[in-house]
Amino acid sequence: MVDLFEKCRQRSRVDDAKDKGIYPYFHALETRQDCEVVMEGKRRIMLGSNNYLGLTTEPEVIEAGIKALEQYGTGCSGSRFLNGTLRMHIELEEELAHFLGKEAVTTFSTGFQSNLGIISAVVGRHDVVICDRENHASIYDGCRLSFGKLMMYRHADMEDLEAQLQKVPDTFGCLIVTDGIFSMGGDIAKLPEICALAKKYGARVMVDDAHALGVIGKGGRGSASHFGLEDQVDIYMGTFSKSLASLGGYMAASREVVEYVRHVSRPFIFSASITPSHLLQVAGLPRRIHGGLRAGGPAPRHQRLSPQVPEGPPHPHHRIRDPRGSHLYL
Ligand SMILES: Cc1ncc(COP(=O)(O)O)c(C=O)c1O
Repeated sequence: MVDLFEKCRQRSRVDDAKDKGIYPYFHALETRQDCEVVMEGKRRIMLGSNNYLGLTTEPEVIEAGIKALEQYGTGCSGSRFLNGTLRMHIELEEELAHFLGKEAVTTFSTGFQSNLGIISAVVGRHDVVICDRENHASIYDGCRLSFGKLMMYRHADMEDLEAQLQKVPDTFGCLIVTDGIFSMGGDIAKLPEICALAKKYGARVMVDDAHALGVIGKGGRGSASHFGLEDQVDIYMGTFSKSLASLGGYMAASREVVEYVRHVSRPFIFSASITPSHLLQVAGLPRRIHGGLRAGGPAPRHQRLSPQVPEGPPHPHHRIRDPRGSHLYL
């Protein structure tokens, strides 16, 4: 038998990069996540963060986290399924469902786990899941965890997507999954074309809005809202760890689909629920981001931070610089 750890000893590109002093990973910050940080004793401009709305340092959000810790303690010590459901989980899910205009929402411990938990639950042995090649790793891992067949299409290539759809057997169900805003390229998925093809072939559509929530769409509602396709995207997935400055993830869909996932999804059932402080940092945020849409309220937060965001859907290729935040986004 060979030593299992032999691979760990072999020289790799990691060692080369370290030797050359160009290894880019695990550099420790000594300050909060903000536009400017101190990294290894030096002031740096942060260009790599997903803190799209600058909420990591918002006093109201910090205060909510502290109050939750004091009132409910540090953690739930169990999964949503068993002892780990607080009234706050249910209230946040109802609030998000209302904000996103879907019948129901369920939360997961992280965004990564949401993709694992949703896809592995809804894609069964006699189903196909079709992915854009540039989808996030967690989507791919969700596909691997499912018993269904994985197909892929070239990034944003609608002809290739249609070619894959034509290969799906008539007796199989089919889910098309795409990032809403692609995590690496920053481009927006071609949702109008994807939804039209899904309708033509009878497939369902799931969008990962990790980078779109709070950033595009009416009041920051994400990519389906950006295109006015709320009723054609069947499942929204999102995370609290980027624009919402916390930790956790969610799915929003019809009540029957959410109920199904809550009873069969292993990453949901067998993992501890979101902690009280992470929950309360997020609670009320959809309303706050969306606040300006109420008569007499302030401008929506994503527009206050980005005054150059035009009213209505921005042009898909319009790049916008957040004047206070730390990221260039669409
Ligand atoms: C598109 C996409 N989906 C899911 C995730 C996972 O989210 P989280 O970091 O909250 O687990 C990420 C995080 O990088 C992402 O970019």
